[in-house]
Amino acid sequence: METKPTRIAVIYATAQGSTRDIAEFIAADLTERGATVELSDFEHAPDLSRFDGVILGSAVHNRDFLPAAAAYIRAHRDELRRSDVWMFSVGLGPALRGPIGRRIGATVPKKIAALCKTVCPWDFRPFAGHYERINVSLQARLLYRLMGGGRYGDLRNWHAIRTWSTMIAQSLGLPSANAATVHP
Ligand SMILES: Cc1cc2nc3c(=O)[nH]c(=O)nc-3n(C[C@H](O)[C@H](O)[C@H](O)COP(=O)(O)O)c2cc1C
Repeated sequence: METKPTRIAVIYATAQGSTRDIAEFIAADLTERGATVELSDFEHAPDLSRFDGVILGSAVHNRDFLPAAAAYIRAHRDELRRSDVWMFSVGLGPALRGPIGRRIGATVPKKIAALCKTVCPWDFRPFAGHYERINVSLQARLLYRLMGGGRYGDLRNWHAIRTWSTMIAQSLGLPSANAATVHP
């Protein structure tokens, strides 16, 4: 008897594209493992009842998810609570170094923690994103430095993202991928 493919929705909110890249990467990795994956932003999110798993991701601005992600999660809390959900954020926390930076990086901002509590995901994972020095004010640069940040540019850790995607695949009973998904 033929088994139905596992259906997964990957839904993201991005301001400058780095969260979309991560969502695309996860979608490609899960597709390679045989899942049927629908990728969309929150404005075009599909009906969740069709999916075996839902992955939600947002860029972090001002210690919160982007408004489209936060609004969607609040509006769909009941459906999300009934679904198998994984959540990720894309910000600077995981890129911070030193004792202060590691402590800040390990703290989930209050508003994001509240959204997680609403949904009860299987896992919430913060990933480092993209931060260009050229767009940052002197004040913000000083604050970033004081918090243990110093690196600019593309700070994404594709190995960590793939490890997380593998963990989700295993939870959903998907087979191992044959080859490593190539990041953008
Ligand atoms: C206006 C603005 C506010 C930000 N606020 C935060 C923040 O509070 N915490 C954080 O970790 N990163 C913050 N960041 C960094 C972004 O989360 C990071 O650049 C991320 O990669 C953006 O994702 P995107 O490319 O999908 O928009 C901020 C960036 C901008 C432009």
